[in-house]
Amino acid sequence: MRREVLPPIERLQGTHQRMMTTLQDLEALARRLETGGVDETAQTLAGGIHRFFEEVGRTHHDEEERHIFPALLASADPVLEEQVAQLRQDHGWIEQNWRELSPLLDALSQGHTWVEADLLRTMIEVFTQLHHAHIALEESMVYPEARRREAEARTQTAQRRAHWTKEAA
Ligand SMILES: [Fe+2]
Ligand SMILES: [Fe+2]
Repeated sequence: MRREVLPPIERLQGTHQRMMTTLQDLEALARRLETGGVDETAQTLAGGIHRFFEEVGRTHHDEEERHIFPALLASADPVLEEQVAQLRQDHGWIEQNWRELSPLLDALSQGHTWVEADLLRTMIEVFTQLHHAHIALEESMVYPEARRREAEARTQTAQRRAHWTKEAA
């Protein structure tokens, strides 16, 4: 049976870094709206943030759900199981928050001025905190475990290959 190719953890981790940078843009947008209103800079920031979380953010969660979490759940480790359950729940909350935040950013990117700054500020704070806690748990517990398993599988494959090469000689 052909082993499924997992998305490299390094790439997923790289996306986390981009997420952190884009969350900083979100913070910059909130400040910009408080001082300069919906100007060109705010529109550009809002558009970039909107595109990133709509496309890259969602794809990232989807990849983790499909390729990383199931492999870890299959290990029957109760601590890991609990962490993965927490991460799945986070994805649900992040998606729920995004559905409310997304139309506001889209409107700002088009120059609409009806977005209420205080409400947006609250949403941004919740969205940012959720991401920080979520990424911290993934990078401290779940990604290292996935990486360890990947290395283990690679060693096993190398050992099997060496065994067969010896048999064939
Ligand atoms: Fe995640
Ligand atoms: Fe992640």
